[in-house]
Amino acid sequence: MRVSVLTASDRCSRGQAEDKSGPLLSELLKGAAETVCYRCVPDEREQIAAALVFMCDELRSDVVFTTGGTGFAPRDVTPEATRDVIEKEVPGIPEAIRYESLKITPKAMLSRATAGIRGRTLIVNLPGSPKAVRESLAVVLPVLDHAIETMSGQTLSCGKD
Ligand code: MTE
Repeated sequence: MRVSVLTASDRCSRGQAEDKSGPLLSELLKGAAETVCYRCVPDEREQIAAALVFMCDELRSDVVFTTGGTGFAPRDVTPEATRDVIEKEVPGIPEAIRYESLKITPKAMLSRATAGIRGRTLIVNLPGSPKAVRESLAVVLPVLDHAIETMSGQTLSCGKD
C-alpha cells in the first residue's frame, strides 16, 4: 500500500509548531503501508487541493490521509478542499470514524471530515490532534486493503467471505 500524508496547518507550515500528527501517521502505518510522500501546507483551500491532486495523479498513491483543518475554526477548510478534488464521496468512512470516536469523546462530532475517491486513490480526512489520528486511523485501517483492491477493479470476492 502506497500512502501519502498531508498535514494542513498554518502554524506547522510556518515552522511555528512541530507537526506531530503527520509523522505519527507514517509511524502508525509502518508495516501496513509505505509513506511515499509527506507534505505540510497552510490552511488554504487551493494549496490543500493542489497537494491532493499531486498525491493522487502524479504519485498515484493508493491512499492519501490528511490531518487537520476539519473543525470549526474560521480557517479550517480541509473537507472543502477535499470535495473540490474527489470524484466520488465515501460517506461511510467518516461516519464510522465519528461513530467510534463518539464513544471516546463527544467532541468527535465537531470534526467535519470527509472521504472520497479520485481516480484510483482514496482520500481520507482525519482530525488534527495526534490522539484523534491514533483513534481514527484504528477505525479505517482494517478496511483499507479491501478498499484499494476494489478501486482497482480486481475484486471478485466482495461480500462472499
Ligand atoms: N476524534 C477523535 N477520535 N478523538 C479526538 O480527540 N477531537 C475532536 C474531533 N475529532 C477528536 C476527534 C476535536 S476536539 C475537534 S475540534 C475536531 O476533531 C476537529 O479537529 P481538527 O480541526 O484538528 O481537524
